[in-house]
Order: sequence, then structure tokens, then C-alpha cells
Amino acid sequence: MVLSYLRYFWLKCLATALRTLVRFLQRGRPRPNPDDVLHLPSRDTGRLIKAHLYHPRAESRTKPSPILLNFHGSGFVLPAHGSDGEYCRFIANNTNYTVLDVQYRLAPEYPFPAAFHDVEDVVKHVLSQPDVYDAKRVALSGFSAGANLSVTVSSSSSLLPRETFSKVILFYSPADLHQDPAEKKAPDNTGKQIPAFISRFFHNCYLPPGVDRRDPRISPLYAAPETIPNNLLVITGDQDPFAFEMEEVANKAAALPGRNVVIKRMEKCTHAWDKDAKEGTIQAQAKDEAYRLAAEFLLV
Ligand SMILES: *[C@@H]1O[C@H](CO)[C@@H](O)[C@H](O)[C@H]1NC(C)=O
Ligand SMILES: *[C@@H]1O[C@H](CO)[C@@H](O)[C@H](O)[C@H]1NC(C)=O
Ligand SMILES: *[C@@H]1O[C@H](CO)[C@@H](O)[C@H](O)[C@H]1NC(C)=O
Repeated sequence: MVLSYLRYFWLKCLATALRTLVRFLQRGRPRPNPDDVLHLPSRDTGRLIKAHLYHPRAESRTKPSPILLNFHGSGFVLPAHGSDGEYCRFIANNTNYTVLDVQYRLAPEYPFPAAFHDVEDVVKHVLSQPDVYDAKRVALSGFSAGANLSVTVSSSSSLLPRETFSKVILFYSPADLHQDPAEKKAPDNTGKQIPAFISRFFHNCYLPPGVDRRDPRISPLYAAPETIPNNLLVITGDQDPFAFEMEEVANKAAALPGRNVVIKRMEKCTHAWDKDAKEGTIQAQAKDEAYRLAAEFLLV
């Protein structure tokens, strides 16, 4: 008991320091500009889940609307809701999907399965409104930890069968929390890497002692490929140590009959490269291409 309080106190201190540092480093980033801010019901009485809403262009709006639920990157710890604002707007601009960018709960205050439950709750809310949202076109997308929530919920939720999800789009998703980050290698190891101790810290926040990291709700690498939804777009970066493990998951799913799996590895791109891509660089081109691929994937 005392040990677990000490452990929490230690993680909380580190998380607070890291959040402050990241906020400082990212102070110049553009603010999101959603069309509306919603507060959606959760399974806990009285607790609401915040989401930014992006509408398609007036001429592309339909009722009910196809819907994309997006989940930001965070390492499960960093409060980065809104960091995908440009992507969400791009999808709304270029498809007939309404986009809901969801703020899920973070660790160490709310470890696994809090974020997983928030994703389930938002999907259940969307399905409860068939006049507003087209229940046949419910897609998920996510970045990093948000990608890993997208793939784990769409393949391992006991409340939501995989057929619930028409499309799943993953940007630089980790797929294996079981392997130690220090042992992971990127296809191209010349880029900037997330230090292994930071990854390890994120995992420790999300996964308290006693949680089996091979649980498919945590590490999709251990999910049966049959459980992954049929339509999957996986974007990886060749300088990202998570590239191989997610490509492995996607390749296993692609080998099954009747699957539409697209895997695209971007060159000279590291983890979360799109968030800092400077105008005119190869990384900015890769960002545009990746967002365009996502929009096309939703429409086919
Ligand atoms: C979305 O469309 C608006 C209006 O045409 C435009 O100003 C904006 O730059 C577009 N945003 C993105 C991210 O494509
Ligand atoms: C989810 O993200 C964590 C943290 O980066 C990662 O270690 C884990 O393998 C991911 N799980 C899945 C199912 O992708
Ligand atoms: C949305 O766009 C897709 C692809 O263009 C199209 O098949 C679908 O019919 C559109 N939905 C509506 C309701 O217009």
C-alpha cells in the first residue's frame, strides 16, 4: 500500500515536470480552431468527455454524417488534445466526414483501462445518435498512443464488435508494450529518437504493476489478426522505433482474405514528425501526403 502511494507520487512528480517542459517546448504551435466543443457522456455519472467538432464543408454535409473519431498522441501522459487540429480540419475540408477530436483521460492519474473506456464511451454515444451520425461509417484515427487506443478498441473491445468500425487509420502507432523500448530499432537509425527512459516512464504510468503487458487491449501485437477491422491504413516513419512492430501487425492482418490494408512508411520521418514539420522540408511533404492518404482512405 505504502509502496504503491510512493510509486504514484514519484510518477506524478515526473509527469508534472515533463508536462511543464513539453508545454514550454511547444509554446509556438498553432492553436486548434474547431467549429464547436462538445461534452459527451461517459459511463461515470456526471463525468463528461470533451471533444472538438469539425464539420465538413457546407456542400459536403449529409445527415446522418459519416464520422471520424480522432485520438491524439500523448504517451498516455501528455495533455496534447488539440495538437491534431490541422489534421482534423484537413479531413473535414476534404471529405464528407464530421470529425470529433476526443480528449481521453491520461495517466498516471488515470491508468489503463481509463482511456480505453473513454474511447468505448464516445463510440457508444455516436452509435446512439443514428440521425446525426451514420452508424455504417464510423471510423477511428489516432496518433501514437491515440493510434494504439484506436487499434486496441477496434480489435479488443468487449462492448463493440470489430464490424462497428468501417475504417481505422493509425499514425506511428506503438504495437508492443511488452518489449523494452531500449531494444527497439527504427528502420533508419539516423534520426532523433525518443529516449528509452521516457518511453519506459510512459508505460509505467499507463500500466500499473500486475497488468499483463501482453494483454491485447494493451499490446495489439498479441491480438489475433482476425480481430483487427477489415479496412486499415497504417502510416509509419522510417526513423521511428515503433515502425517495425506496427507493420508486423498490419502485415498479419493483410494476409487474411477480404482485407483492405494499406501500409505506408514515410522516409526521413521520426515519431510524431508531422507536428514539427517545417514548410518546404521533406517532412512537410510527407505530412501532406499522409493526411491526403487518410482522406482518400476514408472516401473509397
Ligand atoms: C480548410 O479550408 C479553409 C477554407 O477553404 C482553408 O482556409 C483552410 O486552410 C483549410 N485547412 C486545411 C487544414 O486544409
Ligand atoms: C499503446 O501505446 C503504448 C505506449 O506507447 C505502447 O507501448 C503499446 O504497445 C501500445 N499498445 C498498442 C495496443 O498499440
Ligand atoms: C460521402 O462520400 C463518399 C465517397 O465520395 C460517398 O460514397 C458517400 O455516398 C458520401 N456520403 C454521402 C452521404 O453523401
